[in-house]
Amino acid sequence: MMDDICAHITDIAANSVSANAKKIFIFLEKSTINNRLMLKVTDNGKGMDEGTIKKVIDPFFSTKTGRKVGLGIPLLKGTAETCGGHFKIKSTIGKGTEIEATFQLDHPDLPPIGNLNDTILILTISNPEVDFLFNIKNDIINFIFDTEEIKGLLDGVPINSPEVIKFLTNYLDEHLKFI
Ligand SMILES: Nc1ncnc2c1ncn2[C@@H]1O[C@H](COP(=O)(O)OP(=O)(O)OP(=O)(O)O)[C@@H](O)[C@H]1O
Ligand SMILES: [Mg+2]
Repeated sequence: MMDDICAHITDIAANSVSANAKKIFIFLEKSTINNRLMLKVTDNGKGMDEGTIKKVIDPFFSTKTGRKVGLGIPLLKGTAETCGGHFKIKSTIGKGTEIEATFQLDHPDLPPIGNLNDTILILTISNPEVDFLFNIKNDIINFIFDTEEIKGLLDGVPINSPEVIKFLTNYLDEHLKFI
């Protein structure tokens, strides 16, 4: 099992980046009312055909050259199923992919969420050409971090420039205390 939910987010988003996605939507909801944690990652990358989708959940399939074992998706599926949740994958060639995993929030094997601030920041600044839309919520608060909108406000200043990184670090620290 991976150390935390953020490690899964990083891995699933890396798949979207590898699939040439230009827009990646990451939804994380922690609902005490529903006793459920839900992670959904949607991208507009190259997508997968039916046969690939079936093989992807098998750990001995990977299209990466020089490697036989792709573990990102099987690990997420495994964690979801171990933790009383479900795993779904929908994908269309040329359109994109949607991956959804749920977990029972009070399951004893559920890994911690991990450092969401750093995860969001690192994905954002290490893939400046990709637009990320993060929607992080619980039963009360709904937080949206839209890098396309932020880039618009920056008016040409790179999102990975030191002063912007400093600003975003503080901004995320301030707004993500609830999760
Ligand atoms: N969002 C996506 N869009 C298109 N193809 C995808 C996407 N996610 C996964 N795939 C395909 O599924 C394969 C398996 O993904 P998985 O994350 O399980 O392993 P990997 O990325 O190959 O290796 P690892 O994650 O262990 O470094 C990928 O190699 C890729 O071909
Ligand atoms: Mg992967």
